Amino acid sequence: MKLLIRNIGTLAGIDTRQQPLLRRAGGQMAQLESIDNAWLYCVDGRIAEFGNGPEPTIDGGTMVYSAFGGTVLPSWCDSHTHIVYAGSREQEFVDKINGLSYAEIAKRGGGILNSADRLHEMSEDELYEQAMGRVREVMRKGTGCIEIKSGYGLNTWDELKMLRVIDRIKKSTPLKVKSTFLGAHAVGREYAGRQAEYVDLIINEMIPAVAAENLADFIDVFCDEGFFTPDETARILTAGLKYGMRGKIHGQELAPSGGVEVALRHHALSVDHLESMTDDDINMLRRCNTDLMPTALPGTSFFLNMPFAPGRKVIDNGLPLAIASDYNPGSTPSGDMKFAVSLACIKMRLQPTEAINAATINSAAAMGCSDEYGSIAVGKVANFFITEPIPSIDFIPYAYTTPIISRVFLRGEEVKL
Ligand code: NIG
Ligand code: FE
Repeated sequence: MKLLIRNIGTLAGIDTRQQPLLRRAGGQMAQLESIDNAWLYCVDGRIAEFGNGPEPTIDGGTMVYSAFGGTVLPSWCDSHTHIVYAGSREQEFVDKINGLSYAEIAKRGGGILNSADRLHEMSEDELYEQAMGRVREVMRKGTGCIEIKSGYGLNTWDELKMLRVIDRIKKSTPLKVKSTFLGAHAVGREYAGRQAEYVDLIINEMIPAVAAENLADFIDVFCDEGFFTPDETARILTAGLKYGMRGKIHGQELAPSGGVEVALRHHALSVDHLESMTDDDINMLRRCNTDLMPTALPGTSFFLNMPFAPGRKVIDNGLPLAIASDYNPGSTPSGDMKFAVSLACIKMRLQPTEAINAATINSAAAMGCSDEYGSIAVGKVANFFITEPIPSIDFIPYAYTTPIISRVFLRGEEVKL
């Protein structure tokens, strides 16, 4: 299958290095290489060639599309979502308007446990159908690669049910899907007041069961005040690593609760949230030569009215930064990566180019797949979208509610929107 996109106004996010970058840190994050008046040629779902000189010779079997002067960007990579969930939680949204905090709602048995109750009642098929509605929505919005977590099961059976749904999404859509086991999202209702026993259940029963069905690429823990301690997190990460699941930690959201340190010590791939990240955390990351990706979730800060992660400081300290949506029913009912990019610019003071790199190459790195996704480079999977003609790259986050996408291509084929 051959595909030629011509009349591209700007082809952005390209990487022409012999060895394309796997992540961008510090000053490199502001560089979003691009060429104007370009074309892009793909063969068998991969990028074969691109340029702004003469087009490659094509045969009758090549699909040819015009970008009509629009911009082409690599698909968004969303490295942190919880899009498999049952129902919605708009009542808590109203509770928050009336003054309750996220933590207070959770303490009353709402929040994550509310979603766990609904998920328990729902069949696997229905859960899949509900999740697919959201999957289609994010594909239309330009996401091509996504991580999806469990964590609304909170008992072995329901956690497996969630992970099987994620596996079905993996197999039935053109998205690149990475799955994460998040049994340690909250203590399951049956274990109320017995957190230590619940942690033992995760380690002794859930992790081996998940591994036996090969259902998770990564393991996550909500390491934060009122949820799991760094010691519990360390034990769970160690157990997961034994089965080949690297950590992706929820850390430093509600309080500076040791999430960065435990993620570093246990060779995690990303540490996400970071709304309460401290200067010590930043210094610790600077000192360690690690591939741990600090990941900000600006949609969460927006929706919960919380401080934003210190993304500007992270980058100014020479570190990389990824951005993801955190799409979930409680803290971020949105998987709109363009909006997350806008928030990163407006609220975290990232340059548009930095925010776009954070939401493409760096978020692919936070899923361990930036060798194949996250930039326009020869040999990479042909995941990209074409925009309507736009005046510049900066227009993308600037026009923060304007839909700009005209066509989406995943694995070198158009996705019907
Ligand atoms: O990443 N912070 C922990 N977990 C999710 C929220 C889950 C929920 O409220 O349902 C998050 O924000
Ligand atoms: Fe999350």
